Amino acid sequence: GSVRHLNSMAIDSHCSKLIEISTLAELAELTIPDEPFYILGEGSNTLFVESNTPTLLKPKLKGIEVTEQQDKFVLNIGAGENWHELVEYTVTHGMPGLENLALIPGSVGAAPVQNIGAYGVELADFCHSVTWFDFATKQLQTLSAAECLFGYRESVFKHALKGKGIIASITLALPKNWQPVLSYAGLNTLPENVDAKTIMVKVIDIRNSKLPNPIELPNNGSFFKNPIVDTKHFEQLQQDYPDMPFYTQPNNQVKLAAGWLIEKVGLKGYRVGDAGVHEKQALVLVNFGQASGEDIAQLALLVIAKVFAKFAVQLEPEVRLIGKGGECSLTDSIS
Ligand code: EPU
Repeated sequence: GSVRHLNSMAIDSHCSKLIEISTLAELAELTIPDEPFYILGEGSNTLFVESNTPTLLKPKLKGIEVTEQQDKFVLNIGAGENWHELVEYTVTHGMPGLENLALIPGSVGAAPVQNIGAYGVELADFCHSVTWFDFATKQLQTLSAAECLFGYRESVFKHALKGKGIIASITLALPKNWQPVLSYAGLNTLPENVDAKTIMVKVIDIRNSKLPNPIELPNNGSFFKNPIVDTKHFEQLQQDYPDMPFYTQPNNQVKLAAGWLIEKVGLKGYRVGDAGVHEKQALVLVNFGQASGEDIAQLALLVIAKVFAKFAVQLEPEVRLIGKGGECSLTDSIS
């Protein structure tokens, strides 16, 4: 059937086989498909770029188990839980830490795959371990946070472990000696003795003011990663564009704001048919109705080309592009 309701960009591709996994028993009995397949959470970081999708495996494992230790709360959460509901649950039950990650769309199982992050906090800061069902052994195993190889929107699940198994649950450690993270613009006006609930409400306000609600205007959140350039390249750019936002990184590197670059090439609010660049946050591509995945991919290629022509900076999608044969690149997705 159509996957329109299974992806936040509301792409109307066709799926001929959808396997839902609701219990650990079902996982143990899973027949791993011979044909190409893709593991789909809530579809908020996935762009289906062809009229057909591969076989889809959808984990729906539920449950939140809380253990209180002397210095922290340890939570084991099923991959099929909703991320934002988890954030609200922890913050309203006196377990602060995740408040800066409020309103990020998607499932708990997807969170470690791209190491979700916002407003100075990322999943890796609180991830203790990931429970992984390995397709080869058909056993559950525990991967420590170190073994997850977290990076900026990166993890082992996008690379060495891709297609080799499925995330069943994640374990988070929320320390009791909580410290607010207020470094980010928009949060830095809050008083230092602010509580987590106030931060969460503020994050929700900021996100609602800039990011389109996928239910009203389908989108995948940030379509591109913020690009990282070396200091030398950055210094050249800064001479021409002194007001360019930047975030200094380790190892002589600087992260730039892709949304700013896209705005400066004049594409903020640009629209071709039903594919568009969001008018309030140029890093977000939107579907005004009937755009296909290929329409969105075409627009993404135009954005990349214009940014490269002006700044010599190469943008890369953060969103994962999925064709009938599995994951593909932007250029593969253009027929
Ligand atoms: N900017 C512009 N024009 C735009 C968009 C942004 O000039 O159209 C400027 C802003 O004024 C600001 C800078 O670019 O100076 C950064 O913008 P913003 O604070 O909105 O954040 P971002 O870098 O665009 C990243 C994450 C978001 C996350 C926010 C807040 C990536 C790819 N995106 O966006 O994550 O919510 O920071 O921490 O790292 C996501 O990954 O889907 C996502 C929404």
